[in-house]
Amino acid sequence: MEERKKVLYSAVQPTNDLTIGNYIGAIQNWVKLQNDYDCYFAVANMHAITVRQNPAELRRRTADMAALLIACGINPENSVLYVQSHVPAHAELCWTLNTFTYVGEMERMTQFKDKSKKHADNINMGLMDYPVLMAADILLYQADYVPVGLDQRQHVEIARDIAQRFNNVYSPTFKMPEALFLKVGAKICDLLDPTKKMSKSAENPNGSVFLNDDRDTIIRKFKRAVTDSGSEVRYDPENKAGVSNLLSIYSVFSGKSIEKAEADFAGKGYGEFKLAVGEVVADKLAPLQAEWQRLLADKAYLDGVLKSGAERAERTANRTLAKVYKKVGFYSLKD
Ligand code: TRP
Repeated sequence: MEERKKVLYSAVQPTNDLTIGNYIGAIQNWVKLQNDYDCYFAVANMHAITVRQNPAELRRRTADMAALLIACGINPENSVLYVQSHVPAHAELCWTLNTFTYVGEMERMTQFKDKSKKHADNINMGLMDYPVLMAADILLYQADYVPVGLDQRQHVEIARDIAQRFNNVYSPTFKMPEALFLKVGAKICDLLDPTKKMSKSAENPNGSVFLNDDRDTIIRKFKRAVTDSGSEVRYDPENKAGVSNLLSIYSVFSGKSIEKAEADFAGKGYGEFKLAVGEVVADKLAPLQAEWQRLLADKAYLDGVLKSGAERAERTANRTLAKVYKKVGFYSLKD
């Protein structure tokens, strides 16, 4: 008999446009993992509303994100791709898990503290409950692995604590998930401040290259990228952060090694180099952007994918939820 694949769960909030850093650091890894694991990928729109959103924009970004994931190579026939709010079990399990989570531990969460400062006028219960909803996401699918960035480490740890607590009070119910911190091919930094990671919510959008930037915008951003004094195109992250970042980007997008990239630009100036990096990124993104637009124009197809994704997700999620409801003592009706 074929061995059952391990389950992998991850989600992304539809709150900001994604950058080439997100593409290289997260999405490309999801795409690579999808053959080896039973994958669930969600667009976490319920997490998104913990910070006030414009409704029309949230709706648009949700479809955008789903289409983008498909355009990047997530295969919805294989992986389960769905929108979080389409599967009621997330909210339902979250409620139950709330009763296994202490207020004190939520108050101490790093992201809650950061976001409370940033959104001091709207420190709502949902913001505080964010980690419990995330625990519900993960635990509903009995996930073995959760690929996330380091900033989400604490959230996966809390999910484990909550799972353990529930299992101890009743009997083994939830699989203990493990965070998977993937080795990223290259860390992609801000073009204007190469000591910082490229961010989808950076103050100056000219430092980030977004997956929906058109060719001219991409080339303009690279032309304006910060380099260093000197004129040699050489990989030296300590002394030449800007040039090194551009070399990394060039290497990732062209598939050439850093050494080969250095050789390509030996004796050439920064201007020519920056233009070449912009071009290679724009060229690589062009087919992805075309596919993305094609999917967004085909609402019937996209909705079909998301509907079937939600149905498949629900089947797994409801199985876990039924166990939980039984264990906590919720009265059930005879069909
Ligand atoms: N909090 C995650 C982020 O902002 C998104 C997320 C929501 C998530 N639910 C999840 C990630 C479950 C992994 C598993 O990146």
